[in-house]
Amino acid sequence: MKRRILNIACIGAGYVGGPTMAVIADRCPHVSVTVIDLNEARIAAWNSDTLPVYEPGLDEVIRRTRGRNLRFIPQREGAAAVAAADAVFISVNTPTKTQGAGAGKASDLGYVEACARYIAEHALGHTIVIEKSTMPVRAADTIKRILATSPRVGTFDVLSNPEFLAEGTAIRDLEKPDRVLIGGETPAAVDALAEVYAHWVPDQAILRTGLWSAELSKLAANAFLAQRVSSINAISALCEVTGAQVEEVAKVLGTDTRIGPKFLKASVGFGGSCFKKDLLSLVYLCEFYGLTEPAAYWQSVQDLNEWQKRRFAQMAATHAKKQGGVVAVLGLAFKKNTNDFRESPAIDICNYLLAAGVRLRLQDERVDPHMFGAVLVDDHKAGFDFFCEAAEAVRGADAILVLTEWDQYATLDWRKLSTVAAPGVMIFDGRTVVDPVAASAAGLPVFTVGIGAAK
Ligand code: UDX
Ligand code: ADP
Repeated sequence: MKRRILNIACIGAGYVGGPTMAVIADRCPHVSVTVIDLNEARIAAWNSDTLPVYEPGLDEVIRRTRGRNLRFIPQREGAAAVAAADAVFISVNTPTKTQGAGAGKASDLGYVEACARYIAEHALGHTIVIEKSTMPVRAADTIKRILATSPRVGTFDVLSNPEFLAEGTAIRDLEKPDRVLIGGETPAAVDALAEVYAHWVPDQAILRTGLWSAELSKLAANAFLAQRVSSINAISALCEVTGAQVEEVAKVLGTDTRIGPKFLKASVGFGGSCFKKDLLSLVYLCEFYGLTEPAAYWQSVQDLNEWQKRRFAQMAATHAKKQGGVVAVLGLAFKKNTNDFRESPAIDICNYLLAAGVRLRLQDERVDPHMFGAVLVDDHKAGFDFFCEAAEAVRGADAILVLTEWDQYATLDWRKLSTVAAPGVMIFDGRTVVDPVAASAAGLPVFTVGIGAAK
């Protein structure tokens, strides 16, 4: 039977659900889209002028669609939207489990299971349930089992349609995706979802696979991307001690068409809500199926990332402690153009420095200081303060760490900053964003990841 999706509900109004539904509503004006979330403050923010997610281009898309065919409502008002929906997206968080079997590695499907129960309770007629959040492979089994308990006489198809958007470029990624992946067992359901995307995505970019391949592909894609970052970061350390320059090495690697140029930027370590969680989930799956060596392989990608953050923090702490013990940290977000700091390298590095007794002066143009302050651990009462401007944050600093590649850090006036920083200050650039010539001209030594200390 040919099905058409004209009514969509999405459970979860976060970094994935919000922008994804906004773009679907924008590109499909004939489809009515309702986004539901338990977090009423978040829903209120989606309905305000200050959206809860910062993404370039998102404001414009929301302005065009909100109140037209896109609405954000609290979960307690969501039952009718689920009942009316032809398709319900599950876009809730799947954090690493903190207790029970697989704690510390396996993904916690608690929020997903709660969504499945909510759908089972309220859906009517035939409903296509779509996994949008990253799930461990075979999560659809769990969802199907819960849907089968539905007290209604509804029927269901379950599809996996993982999101590949990267934060900071979410709108561009959604509007012009490399591919859209739809995994499912019922061709009619797969076709119905493909028809939605076909309004703006070329047919050859819509990939159809089995359910398990789709679920695993998302985990594998993130693991491959994380592995590239850990690979170039492993090379960065070797560059620093041999005189090779990581940007030159990356350029050479990238011109090999088999390797390609993207995702070869050395850094202070990868962050974000996905890479660590998905690597650990993959490690857990491998262990679960008795695949010891593959588990160790993927674990090593994560371990290298931890090492990269630690060695950077150690270098900065050693330098700062020889002087007055004050460090300015420029950039707290896990990458530029987002206000998200989940798993940001800045968290571990700041906590390492605080534990070493270093006083911190923090600055980021988008991250909420209260929220960031809440994840810092300052048992030794070393102290930390937030500043709006980089020029203020570096006042009296013995070391300046650059941890996010915000554009503004490429054009900092180092001559001016050198007059307010402490004598003997050193810059530690974890993102190859600082202009080493300008910094050196201002008399400031720079240590750049993958390059080492400027001569
Ligand atoms: C990632 C995937 O890219 C996306 O497809 C998936 O849907 C979600 O996870 P995201 O975490 O938003 O997206 O950002 P991404 O651009 O992948 O960056 C992740 C981390 O790796 C960031 O901390 C970034 O700074 C770092 N990174 C990335 C590097 O250090 N070097 C690089 O060359 C690329
Ligand atoms: P992501 O980056 O995957 O979008 P977020 O944490 O930004 O993750 O967003 C997930 C959203 O899902 C949160 O706003 C959270 O309140 C919401 N959520 C989690 N569980 C449920 C649930 N059972 N029903 C409705 N919303 C939920």
